[in-house]
Amino acid sequence: MSAPPKPEPRPDRVSLWRYMRLFRRDILSAQPARLYRAWMAEFRTPFFRSYLCNQPALVDLILKERPDDFPKSNRIREGLTPLLGNSVFVTNGETWKRQRRIIDPAFEGGRLRDTFPAMWAAAEAAVARVAAAPGEMEIEAQASHAAADVIFRTLFSIPIEHETAMRVFTRFRAHQRMQPILNIAAFLPLPRWMPRLHRRRTLRTAREIRALIAGLTQERLAAIEAGTAPDDLATKIMTTTDPVTGERFTKEEMVDQVAIFFLAGHETSASALAWALYILALYPQTQARVAAEATAALDGAQADFGVLGRLRFTRDVFREVLRLYPPVPMMVRENTCPETFRDRAVRQGSQIVVSPWHLHRHTRLWERPDDFDPERWQTANGRARARDAYIPFSAGPRVCTGAGFAMAEGVLLLAMLARAFQFERVPGRDPVPVAHLTVRARDGIHLRVTPRG
Ligand code: HEM
Repeated sequence: MSAPPKPEPRPDRVSLWRYMRLFRRDILSAQPARLYRAWMAEFRTPFFRSYLCNQPALVDLILKERPDDFPKSNRIREGLTPLLGNSVFVTNGETWKRQRRIIDPAFEGGRLRDTFPAMWAAAEAAVARVAAAPGEMEIEAQASHAAADVIFRTLFSIPIEHETAMRVFTRFRAHQRMQPILNIAAFLPLPRWMPRLHRRRTLRTAREIRALIAGLTQERLAAIEAGTAPDDLATKIMTTTDPVTGERFTKEEMVDQVAIFFLAGHETSASALAWALYILALYPQTQARVAAEATAALDGAQADFGVLGRLRFTRDVFREVLRLYPPVPMMVRENTCPETFRDRAVRQGSQIVVSPWHLHRHTRLWERPDDFDPERWQTANGRARARDAYIPFSAGPRVCTGAGFAMAEGVLLLAMLARAFQFERVPGRDPVPVAHLTVRARDGIHLRVTPRG
């Protein structure tokens, strides 16, 4: 049986110049193989030091025990500001805490139930789109379309076919294509002037996207005032007052948050869904089991959150895909005070990298780390690692706000698609994972898709 694709690591020693070149191409193949067995690795370059922390206790310290001492690096902010402004993804300290107090209630369990019918409608629309043109197709594009649709329907109660939604989506794709330089800028503390060299076109697309989002937000504010607003995520977030300050988001702040929901919510979910569909194609027996479970759970069912309880195996498949292909492969923090990690002194202001990609495939933690095995979640090793070495949504107070949302959406879309279609590999076109903003396939993911009889 073929193993799920994994990028070739680079040799353990390369020149800084070569490292930068590799990094620019993709941050996964730029890393040496030893990171899959190391607890920590230090990278020294003339510009900076960075520490990749790969030990559960260290990851806990950074993300859960003392997160305030490891804020997001300012460089990430510089790279992303044109599009994301002061959104919750890039802020730190008190500003960030206030933003989470307003946003988190919109994603609570109960709200997720209310959001579910919109996800269901998006999943049905995805099935109809694929059914309209079956055959060989690039599945990442389909997954992006579906995930963007989920976001617009749940946030603003509009489908992706809505003119503004479609314009945000297409502008965003153009923005993404120009992103690689920002990607490196975010991860590598290059000389200070470099990240600021946003290309003019990137600035322009960011401005266009923000203007479109500002329009949607303005319309919604008016509807809230008129008492005609639908009860969706946007209305919830825009009408929630911070229990501490009693304030709501200003319009400008809301534009920042919508931009990040769109970016964080559709790029990541699309990446996970596309890899999940490829994995089904690679493992026909798993595919048959998912399809059977989906048929039993969904045939004749209503758009009710309860169906997820009948999609247990599909959920384990999706979790396993998030382990092997975590859409956010690495997270970068900065230490605000000197630290000692594993008896090594870490200077204040170093880059602290937590890598779900490496942690999830760590050879000293996981049994057969590179194998796809959805059954592992029912084993002792799988259960233990789920607690201490599995962080596709990060962990601690800065955990992904959309984690529950993404698990509901991903499992539902996977089940609906597997119930309707058979997915097969296209010979000679197996994908190679690369990491830009999220983990993607170098030349897309090409699958042959046939309706099930
Ligand atoms: C499979 C899908 C998803 C994955 C794997 C994922 C993963 C992550 C990760 C790893 C982070 C932390 C990044 C860091 O600390 O540097 C994050 C943050 C975030 N995610 Fe997600 N995400 C997903 C879907 C979503 C969805 C659907 C939404 C919203 C609708 C969302 C909204 C956010 C937001 C707002 C943050 C920033 C939280 C903060 O910094 O306080 N994500 N996500």
